[in-house]
This record gives sequence, C-alpha cells and structure tokens, in this order.
Amino acid sequence: MSANDETENADTTVVAEPSVTEQATPDEKASEAPIADDAIPAAPKGGRRPMIAGNWKLNAGGADGCDLALAVARYAADHEETEVVVAPPFTAIAAVSNELYNKKSDVGVAGQDVYWEDSGAFTGEVSASMLRMAGATWAIIGHSERRQHFGETDETVVKKVAAANAGGLKCIVCVGETLDQREAGQTLEVIGRQVSAVVGELAKSGGDGVIAYEPVWAIGTGKVASPEDAQEIHGAIRKLLAETDVELAEQTRILYGGSVKANNAEGLLAQPDIDGALVGGASLEADGFGKIIEIAAKLARQGKNG
Ligand code: PGA
Repeated sequence: MSANDETENADTTVVAEPSVTEQATPDEKASEAPIADDAIPAAPKGGRRPMIAGNWKLNAGGADGCDLALAVARYAADHEETEVVVAPPFTAIAAVSNELYNKKSDVGVAGQDVYWEDSGAFTGEVSASMLRMAGATWAIIGHSERRQHFGETDETVVKKVAAANAGGLKCIVCVGETLDQREAGQTLEVIGRQVSAVVGELAKSGGDGVIAYEPVWAIGTGKVASPEDAQEIHGAIRKLLAETDVELAEQTRILYGGSVKANNAEGLLAQPDIDGALVGGASLEADGFGKIIEIAAKLARQGKNG
C-alpha cells in the first residue's frame, strides 16, 4: 500500500465531537466515546506511512495549544503523505481535539501518558477511555522523562500499552539508552530489553503500534544522533520485532526522537528504517514543525517508504 492509499483512510479518523463534553455519567460518556473502533485506520500493508508527532510536554496547555494545533493542521492538510499527531498536555486535549474536528483535520491527538486502570481511586491519573472521550486516539507511553522523573519501568510501560490496546488507543512506545549506558556499550542491550517488554502487546495491536527510539542524551540537548547511528538502532529494533512476527516488523513504524529540527530532519528521515520523528522542542513552533512534516511527505512521494 502506498502512502497515498493510506491517506484515504485518514478521512475516517474522527476526533472529539463537542457533545461529549456535556454532562453525562461516566458510563454514558464511555458509550458516547466519539472514536468508533473501525474509525481508526488500519496499519498500512507494505509501505509505512511516515509519522511526525509533536510532543508538547509541559507546554501549550490552554488556548495557545489550540492555536498551535490549528497552525499544524494547515501544514498537515497540505502534506497528506505524512500522518501528523500532536500530544498536548491533558488539559488541552479536549479543546485541541474539538478545534481539529471542527476544521475536519485528520491530525491525531495523543495523551503524553495513560494510566492502566480504567477508573477508581487513583488521584491524578487519566485512563485510556478518558483520553478517548476527550478526543485522543493515541498515547505516548514510556517517554524517557517519565522513566527518569516519574518512576516508569518496563513493567508499568507494558501495563499501560495493554490498557491502551484494551481502551482503543494506539501507542507510541518510547525506548532509548542514557549516555552512561551508551558509553558502557549497553545500547543494544537496553533497547532490546525495552522493546522485548512490549513486543507481545504491540503484536496484539496488529501493526498499529509505533515505537519511538529516543536516545536520552539527545533529548532537549541539541545533540542529535547521526543518521547512520540512528539507522543502525532502528534496524536492530526492526530485527528484534521480526524475531516475534515478520509482518509486525514490516508494519510497525519506528520514529526517531531527540533534538529533531527542520535543519536535521531530512538526513534522519531518509534512512530506510526511520519512519518518522517524535519531536519535542521544535514541535512548539508551527512553521519549523510544518517543515518537518513537509520533508517527510517529500521523501514519501519520492518512494522512500513505498
Ligand atoms: P526534543 O524532545 O525534540 O526536544 O529533543 C523529543 C522528545 O522528548 O520526545
């Protein structure tokens, strides 16, 4: 399937309808969740549609997030070869989803995390069904900042991926080694452990899941992995997936993340096993982020992923 074939499905992506924000009991709300299971496009067979995802982190949590999303949506509409996802803070997910829905945009919305329980006495947590009700169709899971600062482990990551699968959210699972681990020659061992932990759950999502390789030393530091180094790790991740399931390996998109910007994206995205980017800092500025979307689309048109 070509990138263009896949974009036909994109029109079926539905984001939050304004009505779901009206008062309703939790059960009523769950049954009104705006995203029907069959509305989530299946993973492309054959070519992998490039994905550019913006991780806004602890930024743009209000009206500024809506403005940013709408500006991003304009770039996405002009470059449909690229699947575009934005991950606002929880506070802005419903508003951003509604804005995108009103503009008939197929930009996807992701939570930056998700809890594994669906409801209950878990102060501060947000579940997969809540994210769906707010209009998200994706969840970023296991980001290194959550592993570093919030006690995320391979075990909690698996539970979250399972909960996302069960709740109808697609996952962007983050893996990556620290500088110490890299210098100790442990990169492949660490990545292998992190990927192996989730491969069973990813297999259940039928190729819809995404892995983001983000070397921790490259995140927010301005130090970006060379395209060749990144390709080596991406190739190793795909090989690891293939040991479980060849089709899964072919379908799973593996994004690179860590100081990706408009001026370094092309070399990375041109690599055969780099299927897109998870962008932090540079996703907060629509023009720069839009340029990355454009580069991914251009490479797809040139048949890079075809
Ligand atoms: P960065 O962040 O692009 O600011 O390095 C990437 C990420 O943390 O996902």
